[in-house]
This record gives sequence, structure tokens and C-alpha cells, in this order.
Amino acid sequence: MSARLDWISHAGAALRGSLRVPGDKSISHRALMLAALAHGSSRVSGFLEGEDTRATARILQQLGVRITAPSTGERVIDGVGLHGLRASAQPLDCGNAGTGMRLLAGLLAGQDFDSVLIGDASLSQRPMRRVIEPLAALGARIDSSDGRPPLRIHGGAPLRARALRTAIASAQVKSAILLAGLYADGVTRVDEAQPTRDYTERMLQAFGWPIEFGPGWVALPGRQSLHACDVQVPGDFSSAAFFIVAATLVPGSELLLRDVGLNPRRTGLIEVLRAMGADIRIEAPRQHGGEPTADLRVRHAYLRGIEVPREQVADMIDEFPILFVAAACATGVTRVHGAAELRVKESDRIAVMASGLRALGIDVQENPDGALIQGGSLRGGAVESHGDHRCAMSFAVAALRASAPVRIADCANVATSFPGFEALARGVGFDLHVATQAQMA
Ligand code: S3P
Repeated sequence: MSARLDWISHAGAALRGSLRVPGDKSISHRALMLAALAHGSSRVSGFLEGEDTRATARILQQLGVRITAPSTGERVIDGVGLHGLRASAQPLDCGNAGTGMRLLAGLLAGQDFDSVLIGDASLSQRPMRRVIEPLAALGARIDSSDGRPPLRIHGGAPLRARALRTAIASAQVKSAILLAGLYADGVTRVDEAQPTRDYTERMLQAFGWPIEFGPGWVALPGRQSLHACDVQVPGDFSSAAFFIVAATLVPGSELLLRDVGLNPRRTGLIEVLRAMGADIRIEAPRQHGGEPTADLRVRHAYLRGIEVPREQVADMIDEFPILFVAAACATGVTRVHGAAELRVKESDRIAVMASGLRALGIDVQENPDGALIQGGSLRGGAVESHGDHRCAMSFAVAALRASAPVRIADCANVATSFPGFEALARGVGFDLHVATQAQMA
């Protein structure tokens, strides 16, 4: 757990310049896991040097996988094959990472040894029945603390393939089932409540596993093998999102965001911001490691509130904290519904963003599965990010439009997904600094 960190952020001049955000978190987790189970040595470049993905690397090392880091953002993984992992005598600590824990639960369900997955205070409160129940349907045995971590995964249970339908739209749940399905006898099929990000499917294919998939469904046979593959990780769209909104909100701004991954299951925010009036251009579209990638040029624009289409929710599930900030600065009302999942992320993101924006003078009404945000003028003040990386960075963006400094408490977890955010942000014109105790008092 990192030391406590608070920020103070001031409005400043127009944002200008270009930057590359760190590698995609979802892809970095998956690349480590599949490379560990493959035959041969895989190189991952553009790897996210965040606490979440480093925790996954440490866990795989605990399970006997050799992983080296020839340089920053690079990992070489010597795969041990599907049956080459070894038991760890110590619990496996996923830190703050829901993706790490849920995907590893699926992967470990297929082993012939027991494992215990633990996490930090936030992860220890997050719901795990969503993976425990489908994995149990495949034959796995997982104990939890009333549906929450720690998870004790009993090895040696023979897994039988099934066709399952997910009740909530979750790529983590789908991926946990698929990773267990690698070890199951027969064809595992998942039909999703709504299509979600398909990185596990794409990467299994790249590692040579026979798999069929389309939007909202996937089927794979068990007991095949994975072959080492080099993975190039594009920039994380969810990290780029803070700069997309920042450039949109500050008059005179123009930012170029390079090498951003644009998997269509991730880019709902672009559609929604454009519908609000944003000026976002996609330049030099290309494929990068099998993923659609491009540079994004974003210029300031005046926004108007909209009703966020429910069918966009899954495609922008991590972008609601920053969308709330865009909505706070728009003319009129923005309505969000169908996003109850936000209540069980690293924090209750509806509650945390609503209370922070209210503290800055914005009228926000919460509802169980979303919020109604009345655009207005932001004033300065003190807000709490509740240890949620995306809420902390969203408040730093909100400060760009505030009439006085914004003090943001509890920002250390930004390092889970976006190490170096402060420096990159300052480089394009943010006035964002670590706050002293005296400034926070
Ligand atoms: C992720 C899936 C999403 C997302 C998370 C990363 C993934 O979670 O919020 O940040 O890598 O599969 P859910 O599956 O819970 O929606």
C-alpha cells in the first residue's frame, strides 16, 4: 500500500502539446497471464508499469513463472505451459486490482493445487460471487468471505465445459470463465448480457488457441495449448480519456494523444462526447499488435448535456467519473442510467463523483443506476477521491475549470493505472501538485 498522497490543482492556461499515455491495463494483465501459460518465451512491450499489473506479474512469479524486465515497459515471460504453475505457500496479493483477482480466480480454478487470492481494503469489499458462481458451474470450488475476498481456490477439481449466460455485462466475468475453460473438458461457451471488451478472446487467438467469437458471444474448446507470442500494448483509452475531456473543457486547448488503443468496446466516450459537441479527431488509424490504434487530436469545444444512451454504458464503463466532469461543465442536464456497476468499482463512483462535484458547487442528483448532472460553474474546494484512481484524476481535470484551487484527498492509487499522471499533465499545462498537510488542513 502506497503512502498517502493528496493533490492541489489550479485552473491554468490552455492545454497544448502532445503525449502518449501508459499502456493498456486490461491488455497488460492478460498478456502476462497467457504468456505464463504458453510454451516458449513471450515479450510484452508497452506494458503498463502500474501497481495493478505489477501485482499480477508478482503473483505469476510466486507461481513459478520467470518474468524479467529488460527495460521500463517491457517484460519477457518464460511460459511454463498450461500445467506448469506451482503452488505458492503465501497468499497471492492482487492489491487494488479487480481484473487481476477475477481473471486469476478463473485461471487458478484449473490448477491441481490450492491458492488464496487477497487484495487491499477496496478490493476486499468488492463482489466476487459474479465469478465464483459461474466457475462453480464448471466444477470449481472457491470459498470466500460472504462473496468477497479473500478467495480460497481449491485445486484438483475436474472442470466440465458448459454454455453460460452472464447476468451482468462484465469482461472480467467472461474472461474468468474462459481462463477456467482452458482446463475444462469440452467446449465452453459464454453469451453475454451485453457485448464487452474482447481482449481475452483476441489474445487467446494470437497465442494459437482455437477460439470462435463475435460481439456478445465466445466459444472455446478446453485442453489445447498456447504458443508464445510477442504482444505490443497500445496506450490505454481510459487514461487518454482524462486528457480528451481536459482539452475539450479548457478554452484555447489543443492536444495530440498518440498511440491510443481504440478497441470499439472501449470508445463509447468518444461517441458520447461528440454528441455533446466535442471536437475529437482520429488521425493515422492503424493496427498496433492486432488492436485498432490511432492518434487523437482534441480541441476545445462547448458542450451541451445529453441523455447517455444505455447501449453505450458497457463501452465506456470506466469513463463515467470523467464524463461526470464533462457534464458538470456542459450547458444543461446530462442523464446517466443503466450504470449500476459504477457502485461496485474501486469505489462507489456514483456517490464519490456526486459528492465531490457537489462540494465544487454542481447540482448532482444520484439515482441507483446513474445520476442527473446539471451543468454549472465550478468553484474551488476540497474533495475526496476515496482512494479511487479514476475519481482522483477526474477531479484534477475538474479543477481546470474551477474558480479557485481544488484540494483532492487520497490520490496515491493513481499509480495503479496511470503512473506519472502528474508529470504528463503538468507537461501539457495542468497546474497540479502534491499538496502539503498544511494545504489540506
Ligand atoms: C476490465 C473490465 C471492466 C473494467 C475494468 C477492466 C477488464 O470491469 O471496469 O477496469 O480488463 O476486463 P467489469 O468486467 O467488472 O465491467
